[in-house]
Amino acid sequence: MDRMQAEGDFAHFEPLFFSTSNAGGAAPSMAKNETTLQDAFNIDALKRCDIILTAQGGDYTNEVYPKLRAAGWNGHWIDAASSLRMKNDAVIVLDPVNMPVIKDALAKGGKDWIGGNCTVSCMLMGVGALYKAGLVEWMSTQTYQAASGGGAQHMRELLTQFGTLNAEVKDLLADPKSAILEIDRKIIGKQRSLTAVETANFGVPLGGSLIPWIDKDLGNGQSREEWKGMAETNKILGLGEGFGSAAIPVDGFCVRIGAMRCHSQALTFKLKKDVPVADIEAMIAADNEWVKVVPNTREATIQDLTPVATTGTLTIPVGRIRKLAMGPEYVGAFTIGDQLLWGAAEPLRRMLRILLD
Ligand code: HSE
Repeated sequence: MDRMQAEGDFAHFEPLFFSTSNAGGAAPSMAKNETTLQDAFNIDALKRCDIILTAQGGDYTNEVYPKLRAAGWNGHWIDAASSLRMKNDAVIVLDPVNMPVIKDALAKGGKDWIGGNCTVSCMLMGVGALYKAGLVEWMSTQTYQAASGGGAQHMRELLTQFGTLNAEVKDLLADPKSAILEIDRKIIGKQRSLTAVETANFGVPLGGSLIPWIDKDLGNGQSREEWKGMAETNKILGLGEGFGSAAIPVDGFCVRIGAMRCHSQALTFKLKKDVPVADIEAMIAADNEWVKVVPNTREATIQDLTPVATTGTLTIPVGRIRKLAMGPEYVGAFTIGDQLLWGAAEPLRRMLRILLD
């Protein structure tokens, strides 16, 4: 909503606000004629809309979307849930990367516009240029995903754990002569004895640790988050079986770390040919107005290529770009994106504007 206000989106349509929990309450100040919150489960009320944009999540989409379509609603549906993403006639929207795919679907009467997985969207905003140029033979990604990917409660849980751990050794920390191994022993003891309430969201401690598994277990050794990497990257780019072409292999490990709301990724590319680093940097820098190439130096990296530097901005820094020891076609890079902006809300509000303009 902040971004929609900042971009003046509300000047372009008549908003009708819905709520799953506060129907009948006052709509936000951007309301024009309809100033009461509608019931988000009321199909007849929803049917009044030409376009529905929701960030409510997969359960809501699963419940409401089929009923709306069954009731004959033929409007545009925009959401960020994974429920509809892989449906044949749904487009994963990330217009700075796949405007041609969006335009093609619009021309064919497409009505379902779904935001991509946050990690995939942030990655493609950073290095989409290499894919667009047809240079990528395959890519491996190792992710460092923030607590926000799980939701607001996960962010709170992480901070509470940090606080609990700090409290455990506060006195020892205050004494410069205390033994670090004593502090370490107390911390691991506390981490291992956190209660079920203290780990209710992540299931295990995240503060001072990491969790190398995100989303469901697909039963083939891969997590669902890892599966999304290849499936969604190809669908966004209009590649793969559904488009009559070969999919580009994308695979790696998705890891939850103790960052707040920026997802980071270390990328390894096998390019189809040897391209000089300077050319790669220039292509990436020229791809869109948000990507920023960070020089591959220690100082620039620690200043500009961190979740702390990126949070709350639409900037997608890409750094650590260098040739790897495996050969001249192997290129490494590191990229970061705000999971709540490009990773979630921004592609949706941009799709709304594409439909309205
Ligand atoms: N699955 C992501 C995560 C959320 O858990 O970080 C954004 O799609």
